[in-house]
Amino acid sequence: MRTGIDGLGLAVPSLCIDLETLAKARGVAPAKYLDGLGTWRMGIAPVDEDTVTLAARAGNMALESTGTREDEIGLLIVGTETAVDHSKPVASFVQGLLGIGRNCRVFETKHACYGGTAGLMMALDWIRSGSARGKKALVVCSDIARYGLKTAGEPTQGAGAVALVVSENPRLVELDPSQSGQYAIDVHDFWRPLYSKDAHVDGHYSVQCYLDALSGAYRHFQQLVPGVRASDCAALAYHVPYGKMARKAHRQVRAMDGDENPDASFDVQVGASLVLPAQVGNIYTGSLYLALASLLATSVKNLDGQQLGLFSYGSGSCAEYFVGTVVPGAQERVHALGLQAMLDRRRVLSFDEYEQVMKAREELDVRPIEQAVADDFRFLGVDAHRRTYVSPEA
Ligand code: CAA
Repeated sequence: MRTGIDGLGLAVPSLCIDLETLAKARGVAPAKYLDGLGTWRMGIAPVDEDTVTLAARAGNMALESTGTREDEIGLLIVGTETAVDHSKPVASFVQGLLGIGRNCRVFETKHACYGGTAGLMMALDWIRSGSARGKKALVVCSDIARYGLKTAGEPTQGAGAVALVVSENPRLVELDPSQSGQYAIDVHDFWRPLYSKDAHVDGHYSVQCYLDALSGAYRHFQQLVPGVRASDCAALAYHVPYGKMARKAHRQVRAMDGDENPDASFDVQVGASLVLPAQVGNIYTGSLYLALASLLATSVKNLDGQQLGLFSYGSGSCAEYFVGTVVPGAQERVHALGLQAMLDRRRVLSFDEYEQVMKAREELDVRPIEQAVADDFRFLGVDAHRRTYVSPEA
């Protein structure tokens, strides 16, 4: 049975800030963020956008771009580490906003940035087991990455969602969940206590944990699928908390393949996957899939029938290295989504506006209901402890 990603949708918040602006305001050399971290713009969500609205927008785009009806979805999973409720899953809000049918499994998955990959693998296994009975899965990765103002993590924030329609006979990337190596270890590299809106991170240790997990997952992959090397893949997409991390990952994987000059292959194998992430920042669960979308949307190479290497990392930690095959025509399909144009439509904030938005978001959980123009999926506020949303008017 052929299974994989049939189509995708992306949502980014309507606001962003240039990292050059942030660097100057923080008294940091702009080159540290632009070259040292490899990110030049990051998404900032205004108060009427949250993990739910981003997930709904991305999900809607994925359904529309694949011509999938709401009642064709038999499994709806939202992977997130920035959920809006301790009990009610983001997936239930998304089900309501998108009008997904009632005979459907609907739930949320959490394992830091790995939560979306957990959902994707589960969806592939669900289809291959026969339980799907011809239905498709919608897997949405949605997050708002937020660290404290003036912390080292501040320039590695971001926000966005990527939705994947997972099905038989996929039109983008064919995936076999058995062709995958995993690595998990209990570490305290990045976490967010239940009482905190901001993530806590042991920054340099988290980089080392990511690299250790990459080695572990890649070694496991090689044991399970001998002879399939990253060096032989047409392209590689890594989890991208910031662009430089992908370069560190690439050096590590290629060195494990015995390559003494890993940087020589970086632009060819990885460059295209970083074009969109460099303008969005870290979107946690969706990060790898934004890198994949970027690769398919911007690579100048013909990837038809070519093998890709994919690496997902979630702090805490769990990681997975797996391979996929690009379905002929996939690049045209993703190119037609107009992802770069979507990023270009965002409004670029001044530094003062950025700080105001970040401050306003602290009051989000008690925001009174406000009337809004129903031009998109929007968060209206909280009434009697119930979060309220509006869908775009047809
Ligand atoms: N010009 C060019 N480059 C410069 C520079 C300048 N003027 N000044 C510094 N740099 C370079 C440094 O040499 C360094 O590059 P290398 O890593 O190649 O050595 C880079 O800029 C960053 O500099 P520092 O290490 O000094 O930066 P920092 O101490 O301020 O922290 C960070 C960087 C640890 C990534 C911090 O931003 C952070 O904690 N971010 C959040 C955690 C994170 O993203 N971890 C990633 C792994 S965990 C994960 O992937 C899960 C997840 O999504 C969170």
